[in-house]
Amino acid sequence: MQAKRDYLIAPSILSADFARLGEEVDAVLEAGADMIHFDVMDMHYVPNLSFGPLVCQALRRHGVTAPIDVHLMVEPVDELISLFADAGATYISFHPEASRHVDRSIKLIQDKGCKPGLVLNPATPIDSIRYVVQQIDMLLLMSVNPGFGGQSFIPESLDKLRDARQFLDNYQPDCRLEIDGGINLDTLADVAAAGADTFVAGSAIFGSDDYAATLSTMREILDS
Ligand code: DX5
Ligand code: ZN
Repeated sequence: MQAKRDYLIAPSILSADFARLGEEVDAVLEAGADMIHFDVMDMHYVPNLSFGPLVCQALRRHGVTAPIDVHLMVEPVDELISLFADAGATYISFHPEASRHVDRSIKLIQDKGCKPGLVLNPATPIDSIRYVVQQIDMLLLMSVNPGFGGQSFIPESLDKLRDARQFLDNYQPDCRLEIDGGINLDTLADVAAAGADTFVAGSAIFGSDDYAATLSTMREILDS
């Protein structure tokens, strides 16, 4: 039986109003979010371009003290690992396919004082990270194909979540299991029941007109 882990909700700022980003981040944290999910896209690894380490640094200077959960959808990864670590990232997760040397990239994140994570696309097998899983603090499963907010949840993600939960219980029980993509009031209960403990939600939160009400409903779903 999985020990009841404290659930974390991480709004993705990809769906925030970029013209008022500091206010938006303050608002979701005030409304009860636990950390900020930072979707970094380079128009190479994924067909979209978002923001870089200067925006992370700007939010820290703005006064954000909550954990910043950086999701690198970039290739190569090592240079941006260093830049985001210096800019104030807390977690830094990357797609193993985007690094020539996954173990070295994980160690770089650790050496920079951040918490390493790996991100698995829908088709990427969980076993592909068997020999590095003991080094990571976050396993992030994509429940959409990376690159855009507002996409539909891929239902096969539930089986993969159950397998990932078992995999972590066997090899790295202290690792967080994060789910990312199409997480909303309709899918949240199912992904929590399947074993996720950390929830990325972009459009479901920033697309709502009352952040506190949305987050409170999410908490009720998770606590039920
Ligand atoms: C997609 C990103 C997700 C996305 C989630 O590549 O990794 O974090 O922003 O957005 P929603 O919650 O709107 O599906
Ligand atoms: Zn993400």
